[in-house]
Amino acid sequence: MKLTGKMLVLGLVMIGGIAYAASATDPDAKARQELMDANGAAAKTLAGMASGKVAFDAAAAAAAKQSLVDDAAKIPVVFKNQSTDPASKAKPDIWTSWDDFAGKAKDLGTTAAAMDTSSADGIKAGLGAIGGACSACHTAYKAS
Ligand code: HEC
Repeated sequence: MKLTGKMLVLGLVMIGGIAYAASATDPDAKARQELMDANGAAAKTLAGMASGKVAFDAAAAAAAKQSLVDDAAKIPVVFKNQSTDPASKAKPDIWTSWDDFAGKAKDLGTTAAAMDTSSADGIKAGLGAIGGACSACHTAYKAS
């Protein structure tokens, strides 16, 4: 896929817009927010390199990619128990549409695994699809 400048900007805005902490206290809700914060940190690292704000670092890029791949696999594990923490933004639909939710987690793993982190251009080319996988799930399953 060829990524246009406009799409990249869109992806960066999207990633920036969701990087905040809701601070749940329930252990299940806390664990999933922490996992998502790690997703946010990894995406931020990659977005910084793609935009040139952060110097390209092949090892750091590969680590951020691996973190997204690992976190995607953990999503169905940390979201298993529904919790009613008022600080949680997780919609109840997650547990009534579990297969779809787990499929969206898998999509993130697949798009992250496909990203070429050997250059800033490779990251740039892969970031739009990753941002799309984040927002596809947030749109359906995360309260704003
Ligand atoms: C399969 C669904 C799914 C995918 C994929 C997903 N998220 Fe989330 N994310 C959620 C849900 C649900 C919440 C709300 C969790 C809560 O508050 O209990 C959330 C919350 C967050 C939060 C707020 C965490 C906090 O401390 O409150 C951030 C940041 C975040 N996601 C970043 C990302 C990024 C970046 C990606 C992609 C790299 C991503 N997410 C992919 C479902 C997903």
